[in-house]
Amino acid sequence: MKEIRAAIAGTGSYLPEKVLTNDDLSRMVDTSDEWIYPRTGIRSRRIAGPQEQTSDMAAEAGRRALQAAGAAPGEIDLLVVATISGDSPLPATACLVQEKLGLRNATAFDVLAACSGFLFALDVARQYVRSGAARKVLVVGAEKMSAITDWTDRTTCILFGDGAGAAVVQPAEEGSGNGILASLTGSDGSLAPLLHIEAGGSALPTSAETLAAKRGFVKMDGHTIFKYAVRNMAGVALRAVEEAGLKPADVDWIVPHQANIRIIQAVAKTMDAPMEKVVATIERTGNTTAASIPLALDEAVRDGRIKPGDNVLFVAFGAGLTWASSVVRWGR
Ligand code: UT7
Repeated sequence: MKEIRAAIAGTGSYLPEKVLTNDDLSRMVDTSDEWIYPRTGIRSRRIAGPQEQTSDMAAEAGRRALQAAGAAPGEIDLLVVATISGDSPLPATACLVQEKLGLRNATAFDVLAACSGFLFALDVARQYVRSGAARKVLVVGAEKMSAITDWTDRTTCILFGDGAGAAVVQPAEEGSGNGILASLTGSDGSLAPLLHIEAGGSALPTSAETLAAKRGFVKMDGHTIFKYAVRNMAGVALRAVEEAGLKPADVDWIVPHQANIRIIQAVAKTMDAPMEKVVATIERTGNTTAASIPLALDEAVRDGRIKPGDNVLFVAFGAGLTWASSVVRWGR
């Protein structure tokens, strides 16, 4: 049987209006731009309004991706939303997005793989398209991290931001050579406590005690995560490039998860790539978790940096722990 290759046919993204700068943060917790910027590469991040939910941002990014791909809502047969900050524990945020976009023929579900979430969802989309189970898939990464951040904890609140990004995945044009050339994912649950939210699930339901102890917010051992991030991202990126039948020098653009500019620089170094080949939005967005790769991708596609025929490498790492990498030959 002839293999169907999956390709990205259009991208979209959305950032909320409100900008929160490092100077703003220095008035909220004991920190400063002088501490944050050199250690993380972040100067500001966007924060969603109280009435602006993850599903709203996801729907807006999705709408823009559908438009870019020239796809009608009724053509989408699968919607996968990657998020750790969905509107509510039940139902899946994807179902709310389905309703907002009028995707009447889609099956909709969420994927939870934290900062690797978009690439896990892209991998799911690729498998559905390759197997013929779906023709057009909308993949979204969307986060309202501000709602699950402890704004009194300077070790985490300086890092995160809100936003959404999306892509339409469908069969590649036959014979074009374009599309998703490789996609790898991995997880290691033994390291789960390094980055987690303790309360709010069935193991530790929300209570007066968990609220008072702020156990419903993201907690992270940043220093240890940093080391695993560099090692795993570099390793999985090199393997994905090899699986795509390419050499690191063949990669035109690296679109990495935006957690820390120093992690991004270390990954670029492993790939022997100058920072000119890296799409970095972190200075203005912070870490938007599952939204970070599709946000950066959409920006680089719309401003003309990523062009047809370019080899684009995605690589991510996050809570779980999880990691993923994919290589795409960009199409029209
Ligand atoms: O999205 C995927 C998952 N997340 C990541 O990949 C994040 C990975 N980790 C990181 O990016 C870095 O570890 C951080 C940026 C979070 C922290 O940088 P670090 O160089 O690892 O700092 P540290 O946690 O070792 O803290 C160094 C010092 C500590 O003070 P002492 O103990 O040396 O006196 C902290 O208390 O800096 C202090 N500190 C701060 N000072 C001012 C921690 N946060 C802040 C802050 N402002 N915001």
